[in-house]
Amino acid sequence: RPTAEPFVPATTDLGELRAAAAGCRGCHLYEDATQTVFGEGPARARVIMVGEQPGDQEDRRGEPFVGPAGKLLDRALGEAGIDRSLVYVTNTVKHFKFKQAGPGKRRIHATPDRVEITACRPWLVAEFAAVRPTAVVVLGATAAKALFGASFRITRSRGEVLPWPASAQNPAEFAPTEGFAVATIHPSAVLRADDREQAFDGLVADLKVVAEQL
Ligand code: URA
Ligand code: SF4
Repeated sequence: RPTAEPFVPATTDLGELRAAAAGCRGCHLYEDATQTVFGEGPARARVIMVGEQPGDQEDRRGEPFVGPAGKLLDRALGEAGIDRSLVYVTNTVKHFKFKQAGPGKRRIHATPDRVEITACRPWLVAEFAAVRPTAVVVLGATAAKALFGASFRITRSRGEVLPWPASAQNPAEFAPTEGFAVATIHPSAVLRADDREQAFDGLVADLKVVAEQL
């Protein structure tokens, strides 16, 4: 079973975790991607935001949410009154998964599957243990799968104050902390929506729920 586990050092130092993640070969996704894109933000952030996986630009630059979805997320955070520099931003899967349209062609995002999500989860668990945030913002279905399981539905539960994520096997997996979670749509889903403005306003409304609790 593919897993990052043997690559994750027993430390809560984010710098050490990041350095180790650069060499992760826990699943096959490292083979075609440029680099590991680890989370980024203050070591003592109160809020952790969990996306899906790095996109094309994140893969090239080595930073999460710096492409079109990241710009939209910045704007939504601004409107909700949350300063991105106070947020630790990361992804469920740390390597870019893509399909190549043809030789030298555009790299097209491919959704990570359950095996890859499970393989990469030890990094997410380690980030939670290091940052010990009080709020987790779940951006889209992939992050929801990793944190709340396969039966969670964003459309049904978005914008609600939810209990801290805990797996049945290990309730303290995502760090033993008081806190809450809010799920919302992924910023990329806003970019794909028929009515972008309405989708954006919905994302902002959900982020405001987070801001009100802080
Ligand atoms: N989408 C994500 O989920 N994460 C990123 O870092 C960029 C786009
Ligand atoms: Fe390791 Fe995650 Fe990259 Fe797979 S996607 S190689 S588990 S960092």
